[in-house]
Amino acid sequence: MDSAVIHDTDFAASALEGLQSSPKWLDSKWLYDAQGSAIFEQITQLPEYYPTRTETRILKEQISALTDVLEPGTVLVELGSGASVKTRILLDAADKLKAYVPVDISADFLEETAEGLRDAYPETPIRPVVGDFTQDITLPAALDAEPKTAFFPGSTIGNLPHDTAAAMLDRLRHWPSIEALILGLDLVKDTTTLVAAYDDAAGVTADFNLNLLRRMNREIGADFDLSAFRHEARWNAELSRIEMHLVSQRSQTVTVAGQPIRFAEGESIHTENSRKYTREAFAAIADRGGWEIADFLTDTGQLFAVAVLRPKRA
Ligand SMILES: C[S@@+](CC[C@H](N)C(=O)[O-])C[C@H]1O[C@@H](n2cnc3c(N)ncnc32)[C@H](O)[C@@H]1O
Repeated sequence: MDSAVIHDTDFAASALEGLQSSPKWLDSKWLYDAQGSAIFEQITQLPEYYPTRTETRILKEQISALTDVLEPGTVLVELGSGASVKTRILLDAADKLKAYVPVDISADFLEETAEGLRDAYPETPIRPVVGDFTQDITLPAALDAEPKTAFFPGSTIGNLPHDTAAAMLDRLRHWPSIEALILGLDLVKDTTTLVAAYDDAAGVTADFNLNLLRRMNREIGADFDLSAFRHEARWNAELSRIEMHLVSQRSQTVTVAGQPIRFAEGESIHTENSRKYTREAFAAIADRGGWEIADFLTDTGQLFAVAVLRPKRA
């Protein structure tokens, strides 16, 4: 497996930077260790979590709109591939792909997923790359000259600040032989539906969020008492985003990587943003990153969209 090594020291430094800030925050990429990735897969099955089933339906029902960006000989590169479940719709529809390159920060989960794909698609070379898509990603050099389509589903772009998203799209546009990008984005809708999707009745999203504290306890010598924090999902209308927070239930001091971190009662750690877009707002970010929308596929309820993007001509 190709990999950019992600060290515990990166996690500790990033966690301390966020926890010593005011307000406190943690980078959402750390939500995805092997346990976090497995819990996220449970989230995708929840009745409240409309994004996965809606995006899946769009891909299945409108797959014919994607066949010209999946022609024989194409390398399909997926960013934040997770369990690569939706990818199977593309792999089933494509004929003779040159390779499939799943890229994810969650190394163990990525390797396990790649093994399953090798069994299911023996004709397609599966070349996983461990990496952080907000930084440069090194794709296998042997594939440089091959035409590439990138796939970025799950509205994972919504976890990134607009500047980071535009910079990432710009880097992607400069990949060798990149021809298209298929990107899933979540659309603005009523607040009740949005908040429920990130605060389900069964408490799975709460467990996903709290796993970040468990991960710090496991990996960077923290001593969080999980029962002293509560998951909260908030709609921030001004910034058009759902925010996930972990709210301290009492005044307390926690040790993280050897440093004392003080919490007031009710103080929160902001752990994730999930931006919700209008077509116009998304088009503006794509434009900043050097892409234009060639196709914009949606469901009848206008809950979610799959955009097909092409590099802008000079
Ligand atoms: C919202 S999940 C989406 C998973 C899957 N693509 C889907 O649509 O169901 C986000 C995925 O991106 C990965 N991820 C998050 N931040 C990342 C980063 N900075 N670099 C690489 N992968 C990242 C996570 O490990 C996770 O698999």
